[in-house]
Amino acid sequence: MPISGAPLAVAVGFAILGYEIEAGNGGFTGVDRGPAEVVKAHLRSIGVKSTVAVRFLSSIAVLLTAGMIRFKLPFSGYILASDDQFFLCSCSVRAYYALDFCMYTFGARRILIYNTANMYAHSLKLQSIVCAGNMEISITNVREFEELARQALPKMFYDYFRGGAEDEFTLRENVEAFQRIRLNPRVLLDVSSINMSTSLLGFKLSSPILVAPTGGHKLAHPQGEVATARAAAACNTIMVLSFSSNCTIEEVASSCNAIRFFQLYVYKRRDVSAKLVQRAESCGFKAIVVTVDTPRIGRREADIKNKMVAPKISNLEGLLSVDANADGGSNLEAFAYETLDPSLSWKDIGWVKSITKLPILIKGILTAEDARKAVEVGVSGIVVSNHGGRQLDYVPASISVLEEVVQAVSGAVPVLVDGGVRRGTDIFKAIALGARAVMVGRPIIYGLAAKGELGVRNVIGILKNELEHTMALAGCPSVEDITRSHVQTPADRLRSLI
Ligand SMILES: Cc1cc2nc3c(=O)[nH]c(=O)nc-3n(C[C@H](O)[C@H](O)[C@H](O)COP(=O)(O)O)c2cc1C
Repeated sequence: MPISGAPLAVAVGFAILGYEIEAGNGGFTGVDRGPAEVVKAHLRSIGVKSTVAVRFLSSIAVLLTAGMIRFKLPFSGYILASDDQFFLCSCSVRAYYALDFCMYTFGARRILIYNTANMYAHSLKLQSIVCAGNMEISITNVREFEELARQALPKMFYDYFRGGAEDEFTLRENVEAFQRIRLNPRVLLDVSSINMSTSLLGFKLSSPILVAPTGGHKLAHPQGEVATARAAAACNTIMVLSFSSNCTIEEVASSCNAIRFFQLYVYKRRDVSAKLVQRAESCGFKAIVVTVDTPRIGRREADIKNKMVAPKISNLEGLLSVDANADGGSNLEAFAYETLDPSLSWKDIGWVKSITKLPILIKGILTAEDARKAVEVGVSGIVVSNHGGRQLDYVPASISVLEEVVQAVSGAVPVLVDGGVRRGTDIFKAIALGARAVMVGRPIIYGLAAKGELGVRNVIGILKNELEHTMALAGCPSVEDITRSHVQTPADRLRSLI
């Protein structure tokens, strides 16, 4: 969305001063709460207790105000500074210049501007202007993007992306279970050329990596899912667009040519879910991924504490208005409670099949029993997933149950896995245990938050490079060469002791 008026003038000013501008409005919309409450919730999330008085959290802000008083700059509002971020509410254009001075002098990374005009239109927009140069830290693996994202994002949004349910056992376990699997490399095999390509539902993939469906990309970057889609397309990688995206299905479809899948939540209002599937189909999406682990939303305590406001789901505009005022907690929960259909059951997969000609994958399977049922009801693929540890806590890591699902399905449909994939070696392990491909969630968002489209391309690129390297060192010139005997799981080690 283009920016206009005073913010545009400021953007031009910053451009002249040599800053890289990320222009546009973030998709942060406080439709269900008053704007003041949204601002307060956000300020609380960054540790500001009082939102009435101006609070200075660092000497930078003191200097800033001193400068404004000294030069008699008109200043109407609050400026709050915490470390390297400035939060500016209700500001005048000239206050932006003072912030520019601060950015220049102190090397602040990011300025977040609440555009009050939009706030009063009950549509709080978050705009970000990222200072060029400061983010140019050399990245060697995808984990490092998390810290960059943490620095770039307001705490409330970072917590939303990072967090898991309750004790976050499964969140940690997703990563740690990969670390307990060892590799058995083979040597003296010709690895002068490595071919990572594979196929899924008849589509050729440049590597066994897909972008997992994750909602709310405009909370990470003003360009939202369009930036992610462009990066995925540039890397020849299939993106699964979330039902809860901030950019519409049509915006993503028209942003670039690529094979894409659409993820579906089945709502109580079946007509709304059906409409979105039909829109995706007519926009050229190639498969529907039905998420089945979310009859209600998991208890994500960080969101509850931060009073997280549900990101705007652009696809629902004109279709559904939900009154989801939370009583003190996260209104994500209240929104999910109002919308998601908890009565969804196996027979409803038949209903999903009846509203589309596209193949259907089912996402959120963790047991052999459910995998067999999924095949029985005629799905075209299974995603072994625990929603990145965000739904039921204390379920096993997805990688730990992948093999039993693969065995139960015995080749009837392709099996994908997501949760905790952070390294090329993780992808190699998943393939060895029978996955056709992996899906990657958080690292994509962290790349997006840190560097927009380029960041997402970096994340996918690093994972591809690492996989290629792993295949060479393990003696596997193609994906088909990766076999069960290339990995050793904790269960294998136990069996070898008996
Ligand atoms: C911020 C966030 C939003 C998500 N939104 C969705 C969603 O809208 N639909 C869905 O099926 N899964 C969603 N997921 C789950 C992901 O599709 C995926 O299962 C998970 O992120 C994989 O774990 P990883 O983040 O460790 O890679 C979301 C995950 C995160 C972190």
